Amino acid sequence: MNEKEILALLNESGCSLNVIEHCRAVAGLAGKIALDISKASEIKGIPLNIDINDVYSGALLHDIGRSRTHGIAHAVEGARIAREKGLEKSLVNIIERHIGAGITKEEAANIGLPIKDYLPQTLEEKIVAHADNLIFGKNIGTIEECVVNLRKKGLGEAAIQRIIRLNDEISEMSR
Ligand SMILES: [Fe+2]
Repeated sequence: MNEKEILALLNESGCSLNVIEHCRAVAGLAGKIALDISKASEIKGIPLNIDINDVYSGALLHDIGRSRTHGIAHAVEGARIAREKGLEKSLVNIIERHIGAGITKEEAANIGLPIKDYLPQTLEEKIVAHADNLIFGKNIGTIEECVVNLRKKGLGEAAIQRIIRLNDEISEMSR
């Protein structure tokens, strides 16, 4: 699927213009991070094989589930829509594992999501989750702002620390 097709899919799935603009902003940042990591890894002499297309497409699609709900289940809903549309597993997983720095099986049980692990595993999944943490609406912010916002929303300390660790991990790879 190319960018135009993905944007059409978001639109026909019923995503609002705000959601689509947010997805475009996350995709722009995620693509840039992927490129930065890729270049840095080559300079270090240990080139990482990042699927930049998957990062960009997955980021564009990450909030498709917001066409059904803006609750935390939008990741699960989004993954369901992506599966129904026959999208690749790599993209389904980016969508399903993009919230914060992922959700553990125990946290999923506590918040009433289908009980399984939603932690990002591949580098592509991690980059999209991280970029989403840094985009507020369609503007880029800092990890500190992200943490302050999530603390206000009452997110648990373990999940917050995971977000900070993901930020550290991605920043380290980008250098
Ligand atoms: Fe989201």
